[in-house]
Amino acid sequence: MAGLAGVGAAPPGAPGPGPAVRPLGEVVPVPASVRPSGAPYTITARTRIHVDHGAPEVRRIGAYLASLLRPATGYALPVTDDGGKGGIRLRLSHREKALGPEGYRLRSGRLGVTITARAPAGLFHGVQTLRQQLPAAVERDSRQAGPWTVAGGTITDVPRYGYRGAMLDVSRHFFTVAQVKRWIDQLALYKINKLHLHLSDDQGWRIAIDSWPRLAAYGGSTQVGGGPGGHYTKAQYREIVSYAASRHLEVVPEIDMPGHTNAALASYAELNCDGVAPPLYTGTAVGFSSLCVDKPVTYDFVEDVIRELAALTPGRYLHIGGDEAHSTSHADYVAFMDRVQPVVAKYGKTVVGWHQLTGADPAKGALAQYWGLDRTGDAEKAKVAAAARNGTGLILSPADRLYLDMKYSEKTEPGLSWAGYVEVRRSYDWDPAAYLPGVPASAVAGVEAPLWTETVSTGAHIDRMAFPRLLSAAELGWSPAASHGWEAYRERLAAQGPRLAALGIDFHRSPQVPWRTE
Ligand code: ACM
Repeated sequence: MAGLAGVGAAPPGAPGPGPAVRPLGEVVPVPASVRPSGAPYTITARTRIHVDHGAPEVRRIGAYLASLLRPATGYALPVTDDGGKGGIRLRLSHREKALGPEGYRLRSGRLGVTITARAPAGLFHGVQTLRQQLPAAVERDSRQAGPWTVAGGTITDVPRYGYRGAMLDVSRHFFTVAQVKRWIDQLALYKINKLHLHLSDDQGWRIAIDSWPRLAAYGGSTQVGGGPGGHYTKAQYREIVSYAASRHLEVVPEIDMPGHTNAALASYAELNCDGVAPPLYTGTAVGFSSLCVDKPVTYDFVEDVIRELAALTPGRYLHIGGDEAHSTSHADYVAFMDRVQPVVAKYGKTVVGWHQLTGADPAKGALAQYWGLDRTGDAEKAKVAAAARNGTGLILSPADRLYLDMKYSEKTEPGLSWAGYVEVRRSYDWDPAAYLPGVPASAVAGVEAPLWTETVSTGAHIDRMAFPRLLSAAELGWSPAASHGWEAYRERLAAQGPRLAALGIDFHRSPQVPWRTE
């Protein structure tokens, strides 16, 4: 069998490794190429994890893999660079140019499993594939019965898009460092590589800025509904960035401007055109706040924030929002973006903005994040498409496909429904390359699933709204267009049910998916 023909459950009674062994390639996102062959490999108490000698990044990934497998298997799984044969092997090969910065090859046979990549991120993604080939019980944190068998064959896998994101809005409701780390671990399992944090909005400012300390201390002191809110100290934020990096995710921080700024305006009277600070805001209306585009102090503020945030950001991108600036005139909006985008460049970062940025003049190299709907007007779509033809890259986050805060159906709690109900098939069944008319396929940098949190206030809410739709974004972002198909996808998604359950994720049991038990 070659390529994608190998994906999917074997028919009952078919020869093969037996019902306990997951067919090679029954993972999400589906790999680019799957060739089942030969005997399976079983991890045992004697299995060791071999890493390249003198490659600390590979050793770290080996240690990460061991930490994933030890609790449920109960095996020691030592990580070693002694050059021994068999077992699990992680190796970098700079000659594997076709694997690129994130691809990998996984070969499994009677004696062991070898994951080869050109770069550490590829090994990390290959580890997620290996993990998903094992029984779901491997995700449990106490010892489980095996056997821990991986089907035989070869997977060769590279992503379709380099930008595969998920956003968490920590402004409308604040989420702790521990909650963000859990989210990062969930994203990593599905090969998401960008964590977009929506750090400021009308209801809360969530990152400490030394030169404007009231932003966090006062502007972060509440949230939707009037709870205590919160913010990240710089040390906590660095901890998030570093944890994300250990999972090969890049953090994309967002400070939303010039609208969605009530928390900042409430913290500093001088940022307001009339010099009067408004009260803190705990409702969910949008479009009522604006930075004062004419005041010089506005640009001192913006530069200080961007400088301090850029210094906390090893990644390439800094997101400046730009959506729903309904209280800023068009001329002011354009003038503001003309002044602010060069500041992002001055501190070495690339601008990302919501797609309204294409109504101004996007900086060279900027990315615009499209959050419109099928029913969005042609004129707005045409403006985005024109910017894309002019060199602006696009991140696709259609609200009626990938907004994780939309209700699945009228029965869903929590959630919003202004973009309509978004059941699993709707979130999956579209093509990013063909989505916006007039956009060259090469302009699509990738996809992102945003989780807004006006109604989402607990970890259980995050789990229910994101799962399983996050997996749609993951597969759209990673898997080749030719592999796309709802019928095969829903079977592979069904097989993820026991894994999500083993991870303690109380996901939405969509009636569109024939969920399995294990
Ligand atoms: C947005 O949903 N206002 C980007």
